[in-house]
Amino acid sequence: MRKKRYLLILLAAVLALLAGCGTQDSISAPLPTPSPVSTPAATPTPTPEPTPEPDPYADVTGYRAENTERYAAYAEQNPDLAAQQVVSYVNIGLDRPFYTEVETIADPDHLLVLCNKYHQLPDGYEPADLVAISSAYCNGGKNLYLRAEAAAAFEQLCAGAAAEGYTILGQSGYRSYSYQEQLYNNYVARDGQAAADTYSARPGFSEHQTGLAMDICNGILSYTDFGQTAEYTWAKEHLAEYGFVLHYLPGTEQITGYMTEEWHIRYVGVETAQEIDRLGITLDEYCASYLN
Ligand code: DAL
Ligand code: ZN
Repeated sequence: MRKKRYLLILLAAVLALLAGCGTQDSISAPLPTPSPVSTPAATPTPTPEPTPEPDPYADVTGYRAENTERYAAYAEQNPDLAAQQVVSYVNIGLDRPFYTEVETIADPDHLLVLCNKYHQLPDGYEPADLVAISSAYCNGGKNLYLRAEAAAAFEQLCAGAAAEGYTILGQSGYRSYSYQEQLYNNYVARDGQAAADTYSARPGFSEHQTGLAMDICNGILSYTDFGQTAEYTWAKEHLAEYGFVLHYLPGTEQITGYMTEEWHIRYVGVETAQEIDRLGITLDEYCASYLN
């Protein structure tokens, strides 16, 4: 009995020993290599496209995308100008000196042709439909010509003025290239080129060569004093009804490149003349920003 108990104790001791060894083994066993945690390949964060600065002139009438940098530069040099003026003036070409980057007019017969210090008539241009103005409406019985549509409108203007007791007469109408050349050269000889350029167009650049412009007077004062006459007051009010605008108005010298000429009228048609009047702008601004 005693022996059996002894054996039992021995057996228990052996088992305990074995159990202890098992624990040891599990500690010393090599740790399983952890399977690598697969991290998704790092996708590069896309660099956001730089948002272009909104063009402050994009909504302005006459905006041209190709002029964007010129608008910005011109506005910086002329901080007092409104956005519409910046766009129109740059479209005209006023950010560059007069008579630079001159373009030859592609359609000189168009009624809304703009002939100025950046737009020159083609070599040898002469309108095909010039007609003589009735001598009753020409100062001193001069022979004056305009293109047919402008001539008819001019005679109606003179008749309309006469019906209200005012005298409007033509002083200088169509001028050929060679006649303008003669005039301009005489002025240059008399006053020097810089001065002449302020009041006389170089040959090929005169609106008179389009056959759509007329200098007017009242038959009493010199045409250069037309701005002092009652006829001028009447004309400012009524010219557009006959399709004419005053091209070289006071205060527009920097836009047109010429001193004020209250006597110089230009035919554009009734609708356009009224629109230009309504907008209160020059023909140059109208052509540069309001025509497609
Ligand atoms: N006097 C105007 C500008 C001309 O010469 O056409
Ligand atoms: Zn003129």
